[in-house]
Amino acid sequence: MNKALGTLGLSIAAALGACLAHAAEPSPPALTAPDPAALPNDAWGATVRYGRDLLTQTAKLIGPQAQNPALRYAGNNLACQSCHIDAGTKAYGLPLTGAFADYPNYRAREGKVGTLPERINGCLTRSLNGKPMPEGSAQMTAIIAYLRFLSLGSKVGTPISTRGPGPIQTMSRAADPIRGQDIYSAQCAACHGSNGQGQRAAPGDPTFAIPALWGDDSFNDGAGMARLSTAAAFIRNNMPHGTSWPAPSLTEADAWDVAAFLEAQPRPHMAGLERDYPKLNEKPVDAPYGPYADSFPAIQHKYGPFGPIRATLNASIAASKDGN
Ligand code: HEC
Ligand code: HEC
Repeated sequence: MNKALGTLGLSIAAALGACLAHAAEPSPPALTAPDPAALPNDAWGATVRYGRDLLTQTAKLIGPQAQNPALRYAGNNLACQSCHIDAGTKAYGLPLTGAFADYPNYRAREGKVGTLPERINGCLTRSLNGKPMPEGSAQMTAIIAYLRFLSLGSKVGTPISTRGPGPIQTMSRAADPIRGQDIYSAQCAACHGSNGQGQRAAPGDPTFAIPALWGDDSFNDGAGMARLSTAAAFIRNNMPHGTSWPAPSLTEADAWDVAAFLEAQPRPHMAGLERDYPKLNEKPVDAPYGPYADSFPAIQHKYGPFGPIRATLNASIAASKDGN
């Protein structure tokens, strides 16, 4: 039985008996994925559709392939939807549904309350290895308009339940990049390439049909996907392509190990990462760059096991509260 199932699902399946267990498996909560094509052909409809295009054709519209050099904000040929699958509408595929209704919020990485445009620029400068987009620009406005459109009906301050990359249990051992290499060759290389280079859309068209996973044209080391637990959960619940929660294809251990193989590969470096997480005890245990609040080796922060680090961190937080 899938560990990702909630206890409710488990008990329902158990009550129905093994022969009915399949029928009793809950499907992922449906995300409302309204169709921007249905909007009227007025200024609002056109802006929402442009915003969606910016998520699906990022490299061509605001990346290295943009005709106007001033619009080349993204530094690589990924699209937002390389990670925010189906233009941000897939449950546990890093959906963007509801995000509009949850900003501004406190961001540990910056140590302050941040806005939605700032969060988008976080992905532009890290996941897309580029530079920030001005907040008043037509492109930023269009992305925000599309995200608002996706959030219609979402309650302010109540994030959707299938936000993020989905569930995965922490392992008690370190993730193993060597074992991960075999999994990569067997399960991923046919699409993403033996060198993680992905597949281009067409000869002479450098945008990706299947995104690169490492190398110069990939996300940089400050990106969310550069954290082992984010990549492992995303892979577990979304890869190989076509996989959806709650019916993963890889085991949890395989997802951790293949993610470790990915994180062991070279990728662009972002300057100034030591300034992230100004409050060090808010830094995720798997941030792959220092400084850290503890003295665990950097390699353990990268590959785990994370349990001992988390325990030390929690103890020091508890002690500092006692001291106040
Ligand atoms: C390489 C993968 C990747 C790419 C490409 C990418 N993102 Fe992200 N994005 C992430 C990850 C990982 C997160 C963090 C999710 C989490 O916190 O669990 C995130 C978070 C976000 C959030 C906050 C979501 C929330 O629920 O709070 C927004 C908004 C966002 N991205 C927008 C964009 C936009 C717009 C683009 C394109 C301009 C983009 N991203 C490109 C990986 C990516
Ligand atoms: C059938 C082709 C296919 C296979 C096999 C596949 N992927 Fe993907 N992968 C994609 C596509 C297409 C995307 C873009 C998102 C989407 O549309 O699903 C993607 C996106 C990704 C991303 C996020 C984008 C980025 O550039 O970082 C990661 C990470 C990833 N895949 C890892 C893997 C791993 C690890 C495996 C093997 C376990 C794998 N994929 C197998 C097609 C594939």
